[in-house]
Amino acid sequence: MDKLLVDGGFPITGDIRISGAKNAALPALMASLLTSGSVQIGNIPHLQDITTTLEILQHLGAVVQVDEKLAIEVDASELRELRAPYELVRTMRASILVLGPLLSRFGEAEVSLPGGCAIGSRPVNLHIKGLEAMGAEIDIAGGYIRARVPQGRLKGAHIVFDTTTVTGTENLMMAATLADGVTVLDNAAREPEVADLADCLVSMGAIIEGAGSDVIRIKGVESLHDTVHHVIPDRIEAATYLVAAAVTGGRIRVRGIRPIFLDAVVNKLVEAGATVKNSNGGIELYMEGSHINSVDIRTAPFPAFPTDMQAQFVLLNAVSQGTATVTETIFDNRFMHVQELQRMGANIEIAGNTAIVHGVDHLSGAQVMATDLRASACLVLAGLVANGETVIDRIYHIDRGYESIEEKLAQCGARIRRLPSGISSSFQLPK
Ligand code: EPU
Repeated sequence: MDKLLVDGGFPITGDIRISGAKNAALPALMASLLTSGSVQIGNIPHLQDITTTLEILQHLGAVVQVDEKLAIEVDASELRELRAPYELVRTMRASILVLGPLLSRFGEAEVSLPGGCAIGSRPVNLHIKGLEAMGAEIDIAGGYIRARVPQGRLKGAHIVFDTTTVTGTENLMMAATLADGVTVLDNAAREPEVADLADCLVSMGAIIEGAGSDVIRIKGVESLHDTVHHVIPDRIEAATYLVAAAVTGGRIRVRGIRPIFLDAVVNKLVEAGATVKNSNGGIELYMEGSHINSVDIRTAPFPAFPTDMQAQFVLLNAVSQGTATVTETIFDNRFMHVQELQRMGANIEIAGNTAIVHGVDHLSGAQVMATDLRASACLVLAGLVANGETVIDRIYHIDRGYESIEEKLAQCGARIRRLPSGISSSFQLPK
């Protein structure tokens, strides 16, 4: 397994172009299953989760073409399968997003239950409950969700989510586009990625109002058609690099993003002592000196502070002056990075769903293990700020969600490189 080697102590200074958002690209690609027309999705990041998505689409029988700019064209006019198998689903939970489109277009679908996850239990009961409310009959047997629509076409329904769910909202929104009648999704997720999927669906002929708010209204149509859609930039990637500059006392500009998506994170960076301003389609961050104020964090659905930035802010607090609490309200087991940070000298206690983080003078490089995508990002940031060399194992997690992270950071002055599997970690970093 590849590792990352980071020699810490160098400020992150420069300019980074932000890639397309993983969590917008995945549902947009799955939306191609709703039509026999060709769906072209641009600004797709080069990531393992995208490869897995394309494997699923191809497994179902879709024809996938990738051009040199990584725009992906999917032709799902003739599918040979309506079943997403365990082997593919277990590597990516977002595979559940095939369920709504397949069921809506073909009246049947089978998807493996996603199984365990490093950040919490993550059930899909709300996806299932919503589809049942729209007339689907669903059995769970042999580890698979088996769904069919006895009357052939889903029916519009008023669905109130017990908990705000991002992929649940996306799955039901896709299902509703071809349903008979009007579907209202209440307590829907307001994440920009949900609104981006709605834009994609509308460009395919869907009738959707209210995406981006907590009530989404979808009027079903008979069929959807061809489209070309470009996914929005990745707000979590951008925010991760802003934190990289903040903790290393650097200066950075992240380009090609929509600053409004980052308000909750930027407010916390300003509270931590950074100077931040919007500039020509980007955000600039400047940190004067090495003093970081500790900042309390509480994760919650958009537009509040994102759970996908929680681990990075645990790290920020670990090297701050003061003590802060970081409370995780979305997932029940998302503190796996804490033990690894403790191995680097961080002073953090866990009390239920809260990490109490006492800032320390410095972290020391160590061998650490990535456990999930955002925990891996946190460990890379820890390596950038620590004294000495950090070796991060199991970085396949980071390849699921950060395009060329070591190249982007190296361009900004980081001493970081990938160590392909089989090479000893005593490998020397270039001076
Ligand atoms: N939940 C249920 N039942 C359901 C669905 C969700 O109880 O049927 C609960 C979950 O267990 C969790 C909460 O609802 O406690 C919110 O989960 P949500 O469904 O919103 O998460 P998700 O859709 O599975 C997406 C992102 C995650 C991101 C979360 C929260 C994608 C592909 N994934 O997951 O991204 O953390 O929303 O914003 O969009 C990541 O990129 O690293 C990542 C994990």
